[in-house]
Amino acid sequence: MPPPLLLPLILTLLITSTPTISQDLETECTDQWIYIRQLPSIFNLDLLTNCSQYQTFDNFCPYISNHGLGLKTHNNSHSWFRTDPHMLELIFHRRLLEYPCLTNDPSMASAVYVPYYAGIDALKYLYGQEQNFSFLHGLELYDHIRNVDAPEIWNRHNGHDHFLIMARPAWDFSQPLSNDPPIWGTSFLELQEFYNVTALTFETRAYPFQEMGIPYPTSFHPPNLALFNSWVTRVRRSRRDTLMLFAGGGGISNNPNVRRSIRLECENSTSLRNESYGYSNLCNFVDCSNGVCEHDPIRFMKPMLQASFCLQPPGDTPTRRSTFDAILAGCIPVFFEELSAKLQYGWHLPEAEYEEFSVFIPKEDVVFKGLKIVDVLTSIPRAQVRRMREKVIEMLPRVIYRKHGSSLGMRAKKDAVDIAIEGTLQRIKSRLQEVEVQ
Ligand SMILES: *[C@@H]1O[C@H](CO)[C@@H](O)[C@H](O)[C@H]1NC(C)=O
Ligand SMILES: *[C@@H]1O[C@H](CO)[C@@H](O)[C@H](O)[C@H]1NC(C)=O
Ligand SMILES: *[C@@H]1O[C@H](CO)[C@@H](O)[C@H](O)[C@H]1NC(C)=O
Ligand SMILES: *[C@@H]1O[C@H](CO)[C@@H](O)[C@H](O)[C@H]1NC(C)=O
Ligand SMILES: *[C@@H]1O[C@H](CO)[C@@H](O)[C@H](O)[C@H]1NC(C)=O
Ligand SMILES: *[C@@H]1O[C@H](CO)[C@@H](O)[C@H](O)[C@H]1NC(C)=O
Repeated sequence: MPPPLLLPLILTLLITSTPTISQDLETECTDQWIYIRQLPSIFNLDLLTNCSQYQTFDNFCPYISNHGLGLKTHNNSHSWFRTDPHMLELIFHRRLLEYPCLTNDPSMASAVYVPYYAGIDALKYLYGQEQNFSFLHGLELYDHIRNVDAPEIWNRHNGHDHFLIMARPAWDFSQPLSNDPPIWGTSFLELQEFYNVTALTFETRAYPFQEMGIPYPTSFHPPNLALFNSWVTRVRRSRRDTLMLFAGGGGISNNPNVRRSIRLECENSTSLRNESYGYSNLCNFVDCSNGVCEHDPIRFMKPMLQASFCLQPPGDTPTRRSTFDAILAGCIPVFFEELSAKLQYGWHLPEAEYEEFSVFIPKEDVVFKGLKIVDVLTSIPRAQVRRMREKVIEMLPRVIYRKHGSSLGMRAKKDAVDIAIEGTLQRIKSRLQEVEVQ
């Protein structure tokens, strides 16, 4: 028996049946049909039963609830959850089940979704007993979809129409096959077997391979338009007394890096309150060391609502969930590396619009040339700051993951899943055209 918290998901999986195809749907769904590969539960639901077994990772059992959204932040909350981004594989799976253009006929599908929980399956290689066998990650799945279950579904386009979600940075899956034992990560994305498959990850490698970046989930998952709109109103009306905010950890060592520069500048500026800029506080440092903010959005969302700019320095890797928390709060993101967002999320945050909704300050200028972030940000005219914030608010719906089963009004707004699906269909279409030309 699976644990009780899995039952709702299993039930939803069972009730997906052939949608009755009306004429309207027929037209609306042209070139958008998706087929979901049938996988035995060892590739998804069974993996959740071991949620308490990875001591060095975390006990992730609480994050599984609500189809991966996690527990509500408090009992009467409808939109706010203690969401762990690693659960996006579940969230996406659940959302795909309500995608209007599902088909049971693989031959009419434009794309084939593989409901494999890649990042959760990776835990045994990353944190568990199989650390020295990470080159095996994915081979069982490949055997299943290539040889066991209806091989013709793969063979039709050599897997070029298949896609899956990997709710971690691609770096965690790109260990060269020859590194044994590995330094870090599995070799899933290095396997030739999966070169043709599109992988949606939180962070892509610097060179474009088979993966594409999609937003980290935040904690906000509105079930209807009224709750969504009231949040947007709050964001727009919020009084922003703080010029800039950094929510995060690190920067405490003496090695020069941008987090350290931010920490120093922030400590300095609290003594430097200068009302003439119209801010009562130039910098707010929300200390999120030791993961204290991860499942506690109140800690950083309230301060973000009160800040004009939110600093997004790279950490262990260039991208951060905080970028999307900031956009959700209407706080203009400040990037220090192109890889932190501009070269990642082309579908959700169009590359050409970065100047309109974000600030870019090269980290070298801050760390080695003494450029002060406060000086850059205070030199931006207030009217321009307001325009940028409006643009951030315009982007907001594109980066949220609305709640599964939400109202029709809410579904009419394209969210992160809708945009990821659109992008995937487009990408697969051009892939197939290229392959056929060759
Ligand atoms: C769960 O963990 C046990 C013990 O480590 C292992 O034998 C089992 O295969 C795991 N189950 C899944 C579905 O990974
Ligand atoms: C929240 O709901 C649970 C279950 O209904 C209850 O046990 C708990 O006391 C409630 N907590 C608060 C703070 O109301
Ligand atoms: C992996 O290999 C290293 C070096 O060969 C060894 O020290 C370590 O104990 C192995 N880890 C596991 C979990 O077997
Ligand atoms: C990937 O596609 C190419 C053709 O584009 C094909 O030659 C190759 O066999 C495919 N790989 C797999 C594992 O199916
Ligand atoms: C801190 O403030 C002093 C005095 O304004 C200034 O000279 C110094 O460069 C500042 N340090 C940092 C790291 O901003
Ligand atoms: C505040 O900043 C302005 C402009 O840089 C400067 O002229 C003024 O002297 C500052 N006031 C204080 C109290 O530091």
